[in-house]
Amino acid sequence: MKYNFTFYNPTKIYFGKDAISNLEEELNNYGPNILLAFGGGSIKKIGLFDTVVDILKRAKKNVVLYGGIMPNPTYKKMLEGAKLVEDNKIDLILAVGGGSVIDCAKGVSVAAYQENAWERFWIKHEEVKHNTVPVASILTMVGTGSEMNGGSVITNEEEKIKSGRVFPAQVYPKFSILDPTYTYTVSKYQMLSGIFDIMSHLMEQYFSGDDDNVSDYLIEGLLKSVINNTYVAIKNPLDYEARGNLMWASTVALNTLVGMSKEQDWEVHSIEHQLGAYTDCAHGMGLAAISIPYYKHIYKYGLDKFVRFATNVWNINEDDLSKEEVALKGIEALEKFIKECGMVTKLSELGATREMLPLIAKSSDISSSAYKVMTEEEILEILNECF
Ligand code: NZQ
Ligand code: ZN
Repeated sequence: MKYNFTFYNPTKIYFGKDAISNLEEELNNYGPNILLAFGGGSIKKIGLFDTVVDILKRAKKNVVLYGGIMPNPTYKKMLEGAKLVEDNKIDLILAVGGGSVIDCAKGVSVAAYQENAWERFWIKHEEVKHNTVPVASILTMVGTGSEMNGGSVITNEEEKIKSGRVFPAQVYPKFSILDPTYTYTVSKYQMLSGIFDIMSHLMEQYFSGDDDNVSDYLIEGLLKSVINNTYVAIKNPLDYEARGNLMWASTVALNTLVGMSKEQDWEVHSIEHQLGAYTDCAHGMGLAAISIPYYKHIYKYGLDKFVRFATNVWNINEDDLSKEEVALKGIEALEKFIKECGMVTKLSELGATREMLPLIAKSSDISSSAYKVMTEEEILEILNECF
């Protein structure tokens, strides 16, 4: 463990079937006015909306509805929520949905009662010194880890910037309810998008640094669990064990635990966020398409780690091969997995056009802790390779 660190994660997790039974008691800790944040209607289809409203009513709360939060939530939508918080003196924002709803709720929590929130908190990364409104979540889609972290990824449509800000502990959900059965209805496309998001979070923390760090061993185990359970969940989307394993792996992958004392890459995420700003694509599918050409560009610069990835995650053990060949076989195994599962490999399938590529390359952040620090030209090459 090379660098000193402080690990603090204040989110309380209620996990499992009927974990929602803990909601009513939790609500006692907050005032009467609740902002119920949700997306485009999936929670109504699965009956969760009615269940939550019943519990809120039983707890004698005033419920203010804040629906229609879209995938890749926009700054405009977030400001709408901030106004509802101010107008109704909201005591708790209860986010019911996937990463987009939870991210948006955290954004609302920070932006309420503030001026110029975008510029201050998402562009200049100003420290949050004011009191924010508490957020809690009920997760219905697996992938982002937003249920147990401070991440809030917001898209400014006018500026064509999708910016991820990681807020401090006060903005983390106070509690999150994780019932794997809620994820049964997530479409195969969205499930796979979420799954690749988990894998990318793990790989982007793994592929950096050259020290012997306990986190890398944890990441290898998590990746194996995700790979195995993906096959089970594809075959049977109602497999509770697989859905539960994917849900908890997703939470642990980005609740800061496996990033402790590690240098981290995050270049694939930077490029994907700008791809998302231009195309509004499903986040994990963008990551899947970009990852293979990206890793093929950088593996020679972090060769030992890529050999370790091939050996420990994909069980590639061929003594007669060179290190480079083994490393490449690991990336090819990842590529085979992506294709076998039906994840996206081409940006053209995600709504990108050739004309967008230079703009995406130009506006992507460049990671200084990657094995190979990218140039704008190299990012463009990568984008062209997966177009
Ligand atoms: O809007 P509804 O109707 O709810 O439908 C959603 C949406 O269309 C649907 N869905 C969710 N739960 C469902 C369901 N459909 C059927 N049954 C259910 N139980 O799934 C679709 C996608 O939902 P969304 O919340 O957009 O997906 P995800 O969880 O992947 O979130 C993506 C957003 O999170 C950001 C991404 O950039 C993107 O904006 N990220 C957040 C991070 C964080 N907070 O730390 C880190 C990530 O790297 C990521 O950047
Ligand atoms: Zn992600």
